[in-house]
Amino acid sequence: MAKTFTIDELADLAGAPVSRIHEWEGRGFLRPLPGKADPDTGPRYAFEMAERVIELGGRGITRRICVVNQKGGVGKTTTAFTLAAALTDLGRRVLCIDLDAQANLTTSFGFDPDMLDLTSSDLMTDENVQPEDVILETNIEGIHAIPADIKLCAVETRIQDVLMRERILHTKLEPLYERYHYIIFDCPPNLSRITINALVASQEVVVPIETQSYSIKAISDLTNTFALLKQKMGHDLHVWLLPTKVDRRMRLARDILDALDEAFRGRMLDPIHVDSNLIRAPILCEPVTRAYPNTRASIEYARLARFFTLPDEDRERWMNLTLAQRQAVLDRKKPKGGTQARA
Ligand SMILES: Nc1ncnc2c1ncn2[C@@H]1O[C@H](COP(=O)(O)OP(=O)(O)OP(=O)(O)O)[C@@H](O)[C@H]1O
Ligand SMILES: [Mg+2]
Repeated sequence: MAKTFTIDELADLAGAPVSRIHEWEGRGFLRPLPGKADPDTGPRYAFEMAERVIELGGRGITRRICVVNQKGGVGKTTTAFTLAAALTDLGRRVLCIDLDAQANLTTSFGFDPDMLDLTSSDLMTDENVQPEDVILETNIEGIHAIPADIKLCAVETRIQDVLMRERILHTKLEPLYERYHYIIFDCPPNLSRITINALVASQEVVVPIETQSYSIKAISDLTNTFALLKQKMGHDLHVWLLPTKVDRRMRLARDILDALDEAFRGRMLDPIHVDSNLIRAPILCEPVTRAYPNTRASIEYARLARFFTLPDEDRERWMNLTLAQRQAVLDRKKPKGGTQARA
């Protein structure tokens, strides 16, 4: 079911008082959905109106985020899919790009990769194929997708002799950058030229990591890749680490989380805990935020999305808040106390 918004939620998204929303409505910029208003929360508004108040409130930041880790099964696709959906719950327009031949993101949206004419593979290898030719509207309002298929396996060799082969995606997608608030790349579990293309087209990187010892090695390989990109191409990426599938009942998970927090202070995002709802939701072709709202995973990804909507200057402040304080911001409540340790 399509998400609708209350007037309070619109005010929150716009960063404006409710009176301003009424004013915009009075001037004809907004209109509620037809039907009876709820006695408690008032009229409801469609996604299009949420999108509009973002622009009216000057909150329409555009960001390009690459979800990357050469290690398999760490939660890249889950993060790309769920973060995108959680961003639309905040009125943002998102383009999701599947760059993995396994096409898990594509199937999460309910597309059959074998039935698609054109995919990200064609975008990367055929100079006549433009983004408009491959973009699909998804079942989630506010999300467009560029799907993937098995042909991606051959891309590496096919672009070998192309001039500026690391920039193919960036060059093709650049005209679209302003059309979306967020462009999210789901990478394959390797550091191939396809992944490098996604990194070059991005401004920031989310590295999902499982709290296991070999995850640390994967981070150091990745960090070298980021350093090389900066050295060779002057491309400076903002890197965020996202602990995923965290199970705090395990001592090792807690220890690794503490060690990561120490080593990457200011770059660690709030962890996503183990939650089987994240496995069930894509089977329904729905993000957990829609299929199972109010679950732990849904709340944690909503918090992640909220972080990515913050302007740069507020991010630092956010990183200094405790988890309880961050949750209070999300709930639009005043935090109690405020000195609790991060959960
Ligand atoms: N927080 C979580 N709790 C429980 N299961 C999870 C969580 N996050 C992801 N999973 C599950 O773990 C598996 C791997 O996740 P996902 O496909 O997102 O990883 P990936 O990094 O994209 O894998 P690949 O490298 O193969 O592309 C999936 O079955 C997914 O449903
Ligand atoms: Mg994946």
